[in-house]
Amino acid sequence: MRVKAGDGNLRQLPSNQTVTVATRMCWLVISACVSVTGKSLGIIPFSYLRDLTSMTTPQQIGNNGQIPANWTQKDIQNSGLPRYAADDLDGIVSELSNGAGFTLVQGLAPTPEVISDVEECGIRLQKFGQDLGRLLPQNSEQEQLVEISDFSDEDEFDDRGYRSPGELTPHTDPPPIIALLCLRPAHSGGANRLVSAGSIRDAIRDEDPTLVPVLEAGFPYFMPDEKKQGDGHIGDVIPTLLDGPGGISCVYYRPFIERAAEFSGIPLPARSVAALDMFDRFANDAELQVQYTLEPGELLILNNYRVLHARDDYVDWPEKHKRRSLLRLWLDADWMPEPPPAHAGRRNPMADLL
Ligand SMILES: [Fe+2]
Repeated sequence: MRVKAGDGNLRQLPSNQTVTVATRMCWLVISACVSVTGKSLGIIPFSYLRDLTSMTTPQQIGNNGQIPANWTQKDIQNSGLPRYAADDLDGIVSELSNGAGFTLVQGLAPTPEVISDVEECGIRLQKFGQDLGRLLPQNSEQEQLVEISDFSDEDEFDDRGYRSPGELTPHTDPPPIIALLCLRPAHSGGANRLVSAGSIRDAIRDEDPTLVPVLEAGFPYFMPDEKKQGDGHIGDVIPTLLDGPGGISCVYYRPFIERAAEFSGIPLPARSVAALDMFDRFANDAELQVQYTLEPGELLILNNYRVLHARDDYVDWPEKHKRRSLLRLWLDADWMPEPPPAHAGRRNPMADLL
């Protein structure tokens, strides 16, 4: 069933799938570490990047397969940002699986009245997600819809990235697909930055191919305790970049790699640091990134295997009801390729918590 604005079926979702405020999450605590500790991974100043917001118009729908999988900013400039109507599921699936690996979607929240109704937006977004694939729980409370906003003044222990202000450096989230519906942008800043994992690997291969196997071997990750700030344990070694049956799969969040090393008392080897530094350098390379500020009612969907995302720092509105706000889904879908075995856990990241 296609999702259409005003679809009468949208309100037939189970009542427990209404908008909720997330209270638990493990992986995305990592995002907060960046803003809380103030550690910088070499982010390029915003002004150096070209915001593509003004580069496309609502008339440019689809991209006709023009964007290669390992795209650079120049490729996106040439083709325009991929945009699809919310009922063009075939186009969206094709773009995510065989095209750019990300797309903007329009029409899900088409009017100011709908955009201002957070519950209605949540219902529409979940219905859309169910048409595209399967909703995944995003935290130990099994919430399938979370609000991304600054709640740092409400909760003592709530330094997770999606509930905190500030910059988030390029990283992947745990699931196969991420969907972000913008309800309200920040007063200023808060742009999303995207970069192709394949393009990062291409650039590393060009400069020092001996570092690629280091990233393929991977690193131990720190796994935080969701309830006790600072507590956690060292988890499995997770490869950063691997090829699976459906192509590349990237898992990356450097603060947890570094925290695992600190936790174990064993510093990262020099070759590991060199590989991570080069990965970060290209992940933040202005020529590889696209930057885009979502407008109210716009939906951004990412193939999280192939595209890393980041968020610029931002200045929020002083009034709470005006704060930057997005709704997020984590999704899997049968049409998504199987990840390499070492990344198989991505298909349901919260399964261990069930
Ligand atoms: Fe994220």
